[in-house]
Amino acid sequence: MTQLEHGLDAAIRETSHLYERVRRVIPPLEWPLHAPAVAAINQLKRKRNAVILAHNYQTPEIYHCVADITGDSLALARRASETDAEVIVMAGVHFMAETAKLLNPDKTVLIPDEQAGCSLAASITAKDVRLLRETYPGVPVVTYVNTSAEVKAASDICCTSGNAVQVVESLERDRVIFIPDEYLAKYVATQTEVQIIPWHGHCEVHERFTGEEVRRYRQGSDGLVVIAHPECPPDVLEASDFVGSTAQMADYVKSRRPARVLMLTECSMSDNVAAEIDDVEFVRPCNLCPHMKRITLDNIRQALETLQPAVEIPAPVAQQARRSVERMLEVQ
Ligand code: 13P
Ligand code: SF4
Repeated sequence: MTQLEHGLDAAIRETSHLYERVRRVIPPLEWPLHAPAVAAINQLKRKRNAVILAHNYQTPEIYHCVADITGDSLALARRASETDAEVIVMAGVHFMAETAKLLNPDKTVLIPDEQAGCSLAASITAKDVRLLRETYPGVPVVTYVNTSAEVKAASDICCTSGNAVQVVESLERDRVIFIPDEYLAKYVATQTEVQIIPWHGHCEVHERFTGEEVRRYRQGSDGLVVIAHPECPPDVLEASDFVGSTAQMADYVKSRRPARVLMLTECSMSDNVAAEIDDVEFVRPCNLCPHMKRITLDNIRQALETLQPAVEIPAPVAQQARRSVERMLEVQ
């Protein structure tokens, strides 16, 4: 046996208990491709006193085999504020790493690929927020966390898809500006009496689903349960049985165990839930988020080895943006 084969063998043995977590979604033949990086990352985490936060859209070998904390944007923000680790690696997109940094200004927060952006975050600038404030004087600005720190700093309070309605209502006002996701804003407007002033940002992953597509899937599949993320267009949400954040969607499937489910969101969501349960059939379509998919075992390993790329936010921006995130976390 060569030294390389010996190393691979050792990595496969060392990670066999982790492979058990993903065996429903990763074929045994593929595991040797992941095992060495999984073993190395778990060793590096101990050496660096690091934790890995992984969003629900990360691939199963990241989500189930190297992450310490998993969940939707709200859970990741909450748990990021509680960790004792010195280093936080965000297996997610850039705005999520910025949120973790805002809540942990003295810790090293790493984003394994700095290009992991978000079409919603790219749809609005702090200048746009200032212009909105001029157009609607005195109306508070509620900002989805899928935004840059500068935009959060120019806002009154943040929200996620998991708490948007509660955050809007917590302000006890007749109208709010809700940025940047137009479809989430429209969904919130169906759930509250508060008048919602939307922006025109869209998620490039969820805007591609259509109500017509949902109807076609239902025709071909009796008893199909359709659950959707609120970043989907209104006709998709109307055609769905349940609407919720990524964590709420996962909880719905794990607790209700529908025989067949269509999850209208990013593809890895279904894989990560399917890894944990075997009595639900997951019907496609799904869409890939190219930003989330920039995060790989290789760049997580490299980030832990080099402690780069680290997220930095200028102090005045960080101070204002932190206030918007902390206000959100105070809303129950
Ligand atoms: P969640 O907060 O529901 O996890 O959504 C984040 C996201 O980027 C969805 O596209
Ligand atoms: Fe942004 Fe959409 Fe990707 Fe979520 S799925 S990170 S909203 S582009």
